[in-house]
Amino acid sequence: MYALLKFAPLFLAVAVCNGWLFGDFVVKQKEVDEIALWPLPQKFQSSAVAFKLSPARFQIVHSKQSSAGPSCSLLENAFRRYFEYMFGDLKKPEKSRKKVYDSDLVELQVWVTSADPECDGFPSLQTDESYALSIDEPSAVLKAANVWGALRGLETFSQLVYEDDYGVNNINKTEISDFPRFAHRGILLDSSRHFLPLKVILANLEAMAMNKFNVFHWHIVDDQSFPYMSRTFPELSQKGAYHPFTHVYTPSDVKMVIEFARMRGIRVIPEFDTPGHTESWGNGIKDLLTPCYRGSSPSGTFGPVNPILNSSYDFMTQFFKEISTVFPDAYIHLGGDEVDFSCWASNPDIQKFMAQQGFGTDYRKLESFYIQRLLDIVAATNKGYMVWQEVFDNGVKLKDDTVVEVWMGNKMEEELQNVTRAGFTTILSAPWYLDYISYGQDWQRYYKVEPLNFPGTDAQKKLVIGGEACLWGEYVDATNLTPRLWPRASAVAERLWSDKSVTDVGNAYNRLVQHRCRMVKRGIPAEPLFVGHCRQEYRGQ
Ligand SMILES: *[C@@H]1O[C@H](CO)[C@@H](O)[C@H](O)[C@H]1NC(C)=O
Ligand SMILES: *[C@@H]1O[C@H](CO)[C@@H](O)[C@H](O)[C@H]1NC(C)=O
Ligand SMILES: *[C@@H]1O[C@H](CO)[C@@H](O)[C@H](O)[C@H]1NC(C)=O
Repeated sequence: MYALLKFAPLFLAVAVCNGWLFGDFVVKQKEVDEIALWPLPQKFQSSAVAFKLSPARFQIVHSKQSSAGPSCSLLENAFRRYFEYMFGDLKKPEKSRKKVYDSDLVELQVWVTSADPECDGFPSLQTDESYALSIDEPSAVLKAANVWGALRGLETFSQLVYEDDYGVNNINKTEISDFPRFAHRGILLDSSRHFLPLKVILANLEAMAMNKFNVFHWHIVDDQSFPYMSRTFPELSQKGAYHPFTHVYTPSDVKMVIEFARMRGIRVIPEFDTPGHTESWGNGIKDLLTPCYRGSSPSGTFGPVNPILNSSYDFMTQFFKEISTVFPDAYIHLGGDEVDFSCWASNPDIQKFMAQQGFGTDYRKLESFYIQRLLDIVAATNKGYMVWQEVFDNGVKLKDDTVVEVWMGNKMEEELQNVTRAGFTTILSAPWYLDYISYGQDWQRYYKVEPLNFPGTDAQKKLVIGGEACLWGEYVDATNLTPRLWPRASAVAERLWSDKSVTDVGNAYNRLVQHRCRMVKRGIPAEPLFVGHCRQEYRGQ
């Protein structure tokens, strides 16, 4: 109470400045049991006819017509996972579990329609995630072209289940047909500024699936540490990780992340950012980084990757050959942001090279020279690449299928206009840097962004394939990552999945409060949006 009194004037000031009122956003208790789908489906029709679900009888099954069957372990796993979300851990006996009701829904039939259900495949940028749900007696039907759409539909089905006053699970007669607005819906996590234990990465993949995110952008290494354990160059993590045994991702850790993500329809795109952001690489690889000079002698510090040595490119060739086989996704993120030119400028060998190449003193040309060769190296591994916007801004020649990530808030619309005018696909992360925190409900700011709000033709708008919420790790580790990310990232999830017209913040608030409680119930310590309570509060690990 003391704290509340102390901060009340501050809160009111913030509330008034932001133009919203205290009373508008206090959740009303009677709304708590209403259906709170998140993100909101494209087409949704529900009725007041309610069916009961009894855990003793209800089953999720493959429909007879489905191309997927019991041998599809991805779906079998998902069936078990969602059954537990709806009814709790089956190993724990509960008295209500035995009960069978007379008016109940006995099964959800999952019908995968295309000849290849893709049980053992990986999701991709082209993946069709659409599904249709029809909930009626005696059985509900979930129809999707492949397992990826089925996963999204299972999440929606589980969100439709609500507890009545007697604690019994109910689901209403409902018709849904749903598909994502954007194909690339990502979360960036940074495991370099702080090491992120496997457990926290997996928990967030789980939360991503609850929000229908489908890309884990793994900013795995950076200046501060190199936790990726390379088979080809083990010295990278031996010398570049915070600790060579405890703060690394072994090949089997990486495999586990990729498989855990795949089971949830999530792509894993690793980022190996060069030529800047590479200090930790230099610990293990001699001569990879540029020696900086003070006057006429080396200062003992190092700058970006040395772009004038053939050995740098030989290294990158071998390194990215490994990366292209470890990570199955068609894309690798190559970074290319924030290259500091002062070290290059101080080095006499670099100056000489600049003169030979006719670059003058334009270090962007040197950066492009490096990136160009790197892109050719990666293209030779048959991977596509993603890059931060500077690579495009500096005029590097890019492959047609390059994805340019727009991260600078300054002139964001103009950048989107330029990138798409040049014919490149793009994703937006500028408005969604979730590492910046502030008092109050900043999720609303993320929610109100309209990604296509820039001048351009319809063809240009089609090139915006999605966006990413980025949680950079300077102030984030396993202690605070999950509550800081959720439910703030959920705002981005709905913006990228639901129809453009879904913009009502008050309606979103009511659903998000419940969605947040649902995540809490499922074991995700998602932070509160505002005052209120959950029926089932978070009780720690
Ligand atoms: C679900 O059914 C109940 C019981 O008939 C009804 O009170 C409620 O309004 C329905 N909810 C929706 C979203 O249709
Ligand atoms: C670097 O490689 C280029 C092209 O393959 C070659 O022409 C050049 O002589 C090499 N430089 C050194 C120092 O080996
Ligand atoms: C967009 O392109 C125009 C024309 O080439 C250029 O003048 C402008 O600086 C570019 N905008 C951004 C944000 O890079």
